[in-house]
Amino acid sequence: MAGRHLHCVISLYLCSCALLLALATVSGDGSGLICAECPNGTFADHSKSDCSSCDPGWCTTESDCTDCSAGTYSHNGSSSCTECSRGTFSNESKSAGCTRCPRGYYADEEGMTECEPCPPGQFAAFDGSSVCTNCSRGSFTNHSATVNCTLCSKGHYTDGPGSTKCGECQEGTYTNTNGSIVCKPCPPGSFCNETKCSHCTGCQAGSAQPKPGSTDCAICAAGTFSVVNASNCTTCPSGRICNISECTECYTCPAGMERFTSYSCQNCPAGTYRPVDSNDPDCKECKKGDYQDESGQTSCVQCPANNYCPNPSSAPKPCPEDARCNSGSTSPKFCGSLLHWNEDKTNCVPETQFYLLIGGLILFGVLVIVIVTWFVYWNLCSRRRRISEDKVPLVSNRSRKSGKEPVYTGL
Ligand SMILES: *[C@@H]1O[C@H](CO)[C@@H](O)[C@H](O)[C@H]1NC(C)=O
Ligand SMILES: *[C@@H]1O[C@H](CO)[C@@H](O)[C@H](O)[C@H]1NC(C)=O
Ligand SMILES: *[C@@H]1O[C@H](CO)[C@@H](O)[C@H](O)[C@H]1NC(C)=O
Ligand SMILES: *[C@@H]1O[C@H](CO)[C@@H](O)[C@H](O)[C@H]1NC(C)=O
Ligand SMILES: *[C@@H]1O[C@H](CO)[C@@H](O)[C@H](O)[C@H]1NC(C)=O
Ligand SMILES: *[C@@H]1O[C@H](CO)[C@@H](O)[C@H](O)[C@H]1NC(C)=O
Ligand SMILES: *[C@@H]1O[C@H](CO)[C@@H](O)[C@H](O)[C@H]1NC(C)=O
Ligand SMILES: *[C@@H]1O[C@H](CO)[C@@H](O)[C@H](O)[C@H]1NC(C)=O
Ligand SMILES: *[C@@H]1O[C@H](CO)[C@@H](O)[C@H](O)[C@H]1NC(C)=O
Ligand SMILES: *[C@@H]1O[C@H](CO)[C@@H](O)[C@H](O)[C@H]1NC(C)=O
Ligand SMILES: *[C@@H]1O[C@H](CO)[C@@H](O)[C@H](O)[C@H]1NC(C)=O
Repeated sequence: MAGRHLHCVISLYLCSCALLLALATVSGDGSGLICAECPNGTFADHSKSDCSSCDPGWCTTESDCTDCSAGTYSHNGSSSCTECSRGTFSNESKSAGCTRCPRGYYADEEGMTECEPCPPGQFAAFDGSSVCTNCSRGSFTNHSATVNCTLCSKGHYTDGPGSTKCGECQEGTYTNTNGSIVCKPCPPGSFCNETKCSHCTGCQAGSAQPKPGSTDCAICAAGTFSVVNASNCTTCPSGRICNISECTECYTCPAGMERFTSYSCQNCPAGTYRPVDSNDPDCKECKKGDYQDESGQTSCVQCPANNYCPNPSSAPKPCPEDARCNSGSTSPKFCGSLLHWNEDKTNCVPETQFYLLIGGLILFGVLVIVIVTWFVYWNLCSRRRRISEDKVPLVSNRSRKSGKEPVYTGL
């Protein structure tokens, strides 16, 4: 009921009157004079005729000012003490005002005598906070009365607001930035074999990792290879091999050999060869007239003279007596029938039988001519004999008409 007390108020006018009356009639303690209420926020100071205001930090009670308790305050002339508002406090009595909570502290109720420190996981960045703020995702504080939160360092994360600590990235995952809310899996071709990874390690050449989030890389098997950061081991390309595991590069087979499997070579088979420093990964057939009867060779050999090489993979065969074989022959060269090579095998010369045959043919021809000639002659003779027996003159019609003497013909 502060501020609603009766107090004697002596108006200047009444006072003057009373003074005159008092002087005239009674000794003056003011009793019996006309009184009035002091206005709210003031009190009657009996030593004064006027109503007085309380000092700051005080408020009026029945007849004088009382001090405001901690958590409340009063400005001049208040009829009551007011509770400090949220975000402020007063830690002493007789407060004329409240103080804003410092950064890191909060006052979530009115009339606080002190501010509370923000708990771990929360912070208050400004003066006069009535609430603390959760640390945002990716940051934390493990202290109370925090002004701001700390970002999770690389290799750590926190996914919730209001975190008091960051989690460690598990093996196979990483974060390479401060303030992460999640750890990322190592991409294919890389790995991390420990916790708190801030980066993944690329697979070394000769190993690979196709899966994300891995803790190691797999060694490439023989016949495959990989370069650094590979997600896959690659089979050696055609013509190239690698006979060891953890291969970083495939190579061509040595001279005289060719690829058999992706991890082994085989000798060039007989009849083929592969020269030193050949760009061609495959064995080549011996060229016509050459041979190679051994496997794994770097060259073929020309078939020697007086031999022939019908099969490039077999040894040369000696030339038959009656044939000629130059070097590089695939077959012996015979003369035609009834011919044979001369002594130094430079020309084909006829056989003796050839001469006999020719002679026989000539003899036969002569015989035939003789027989035919004789036959014709015999025929003619016999016909003439028949004509002369029939006494038919041997005169033509034309000869008779012309009147010329007939001409006899005959042998
Ligand atoms: C004084 O304050 C009381 C409540 O605190 C109020 O009811 C009253 O009206 C006020 N009087 C004046 C004159 O302001
Ligand atoms: C309070 O009163 C004092 C004197 O009593 C004065 O000096 C001061 O200015 C006043 N303050 C307010 C806020 O009224
Ligand atoms: C009140 O708070 C102030 C800081 O605002 C401090 O300096 C002072 O010591 C405190 N007083 C008490 C009694 O706690
Ligand atoms: C708070 O966190 C820091 C940094 O992460 C650490 O060094 C410290 O030990 C932690 N304090 C407590 C009480 O957990
Ligand atoms: C956190 O507060 C400290 C000290 O007040 C300041 O140096 C730092 O920059 C602040 N960090 C952030 C992220 O606000
Ligand atoms: C703070 O975060 C917690 C969970 O961590 C949540 O329950 C709470 O509501 C949050 N408070 C504010 C003010 O965001
Ligand atoms: C991450 O935080 C560390 C201290 O924790 C600091 O040295 C570094 O510069 C920060 N890096 C980035 C990218 O903010
Ligand atoms: C982790 O990987 C590194 C190579 O990056 C290696 O030196 C180390 O021995 C590995 N640690 C374990 C526990 O496998
Ligand atoms: C391999 O990956 C690492 C990062 O994981 C990178 O720094 C490096 O340059 C890469 N190397 C090649 C040859 O791509
Ligand atoms: C690696 O192999 C997988 C399956 O074996 C395939 O899906 C992927 O495309 C390959 N990656 C590369 C880079 O060759
Ligand atoms: C791989 O081939 C090389 C020659 O190219 C040879 O010296 C080595 O012994 C071979 N290794 C195996 C395991 O076969």
